[in-house]
Amino acid sequence: MGYPVHLVIDGQQHDLIVDPRTTLLDALRDHLGNMSPKKGCDHGQCGACTVLVNGRRLNSCLLLAVSVDGAEVLTSDGLAPDGELSELHQAFLDQDAFQCGYCTPGQICSAAGVLQEAADGRPSVVTEDPVGVDPEGASGEDAGPAGDRPENARREGARSRDAEPGRPVALTAEEIRERMSGNLCRCGAYVNIVAAVQQVAAVQQAAQQPAARQPATGEDGR
Ligand code: FES
Ligand code: FES
Repeated sequence: MGYPVHLVIDGQQHDLIVDPRTTLLDALRDHLGNMSPKKGCDHGQCGACTVLVNGRRLNSCLLLAVSVDGAEVLTSDGLAPDGELSELHQAFLDQDAFQCGYCTPGQICSAAGVLQEAADGRPSVVTEDPVGVDPEGASGEDAGPAGDRPENARREGARSRDAEPGRPVALTAEEIRERMSGNLCRCGAYVNIVAAVQQVAAVQQAAQQPAARQPATGEDGR
């Protein structure tokens, strides 16, 4: 028996009839021909299928399509509309952050999620002095990659459930390794993947810095 599912995928509305056991990954690849998310393990272990669902990075192989009815889904393709590369895509090219490229769409979606989580002040297990976390964001969903692991989310949520949302988290190499640890690369391009995420993080974090204070006229004695 088929069930109707309505999804906005990479900005386009799609209305599907799917078997209720169909995963979001299979809906994307087999029903819609969107080959951007990859099927690696099909068991939530490798991150190759990572997409952004309503802005959160999730493993699409662990989600039933019917469970995300009405959602907005972004794949790596959707982050590069009309072939125009995003900062992340460009950084992966600049840093030579892939070999075969099979894991790369998932890595890029996950990295986009990492950048947003850090900007929102959501701590990871290696964040020093976390000052707060969005309790909604920390509630944890089983399909999330490393940064969203339920055990981490519960621990962080319990630590600061009543705190104000935190200040942006600096994406050190350690932070990036931890937050991207749910995305495996069989080619072993990890060093350059970290460099690529850091390249974009540095640009975005510089843009978030308040402009340097300019001395008022006469303040410097002239
Ligand atoms: S294919 Fe989904 S985590 Fe491996
Ligand atoms: S680039 Fe080949 S699996 Fe990552």
